[in-house]
Amino acid sequence: MEIKLSSPLDMHLHLREGDMLKTVVPLTADTFAGAVIMPNLVPPVDNLERLRAYRAEILEGVGGHAFEPFMTLFLKNYTEEQLLAAREEIIGIKLYPAGITTNSSGGVASLEAAEQTLALMEKLGIRLMVHGETNAFVMDREADFLPVYERWAQKFPKLQIVMEHITTASAVALLDRYENLHATVTLQHLLITLDDVAGGLLNPHLFCKPIAKRPEDREALAAAALQAHPKLSFGSDSAPHPISKKECCGCAAGVFTAPIALQVLAGFFEEHGKLDNLQTFVSDNAHRIYGVTPPTKTVTLEKTPFTIPAKYGEVVPMWAGREIAWSVKSVA
Ligand code: DOR
Ligand code: ZN
Repeated sequence: MEIKLSSPLDMHLHLREGDMLKTVVPLTADTFAGAVIMPNLVPPVDNLERLRAYRAEILEGVGGHAFEPFMTLFLKNYTEEQLLAAREEIIGIKLYPAGITTNSSGGVASLEAAEQTLALMEKLGIRLMVHGETNAFVMDREADFLPVYERWAQKFPKLQIVMEHITTASAVALLDRYENLHATVTLQHLLITLDDVAGGLLNPHLFCKPIAKRPEDREALAAAALQAHPKLSFGSDSAPHPISKKECCGCAAGVFTAPIALQVLAGFFEEHGKLDNLQTFVSDNAHRIYGVTPPTKTVTLEKTPFTIPAKYGEVVPMWAGREIAWSVKSVA
């Protein structure tokens, strides 16, 4: 059995810089036609000069692959002039509440104070992408943030808002209530719950933020993805950390899925009899929602077993060592 995917897109990706970037960029660019690049570097990508240099570094790492990086800025208080200058070079601006996740200490300390920038973004037609968590109890952080999405969706009706990496059934339900709300969902949140992270022996390679939630949440996310809900795009949130930062006390948050994402998705959609919806979920929805035109790329996946490598460089992928049913046959 085979499936051909046309120009798959990853609408939420971490690439880092330097040697790590050199290791991981080709692993995405091999099979994806484009990806939304997160700006949580140290220091963050919060000005055009840094954004252009980062884009150049990514393109150098991409080598011969046809691949378009869709750049994002890290949200701070920007002036209208700064936003106008950046508008054509970005797909959106990413808001991190201060300190909520990896490299977010320079994020937004006051959500109210951020609204002046959101109003400018609405006026200029610049998309807002959000890490939607508060500092509530860890399992409740996303649910606690949902009223903020509702407030902004109402207060800024022309602002396109992407709820990044949603993990709860309540977030899925919100999609149908506000025209200007969209979302991304990761690979791991379609497949795992908190039980897989911490229910048995602790698995640091499945630890990410937002943390994986309850079975009923996973089911709601899976149902939305499998039907290729028109307001949902695939965003892996593939977030590489070296093994020394994962297998230690004080494990960094992030699951590395870039090189296995399409193969695992194919298995997941096939198991549920929804392989016909995979193209819409990993490509068509994002093309339409974000209005992007990445290079054309055809990925052929086949139902031939593939054992996930133990490591890619210094990074351990999700499900390292596991045999999965689908593999990449060719990319053209
Ligand atoms: O698990 C995560 N890792 N969640 C994030 O929000 C950031 C990411 C990273 O940059 O490692
Ligand atoms: Zn992320």
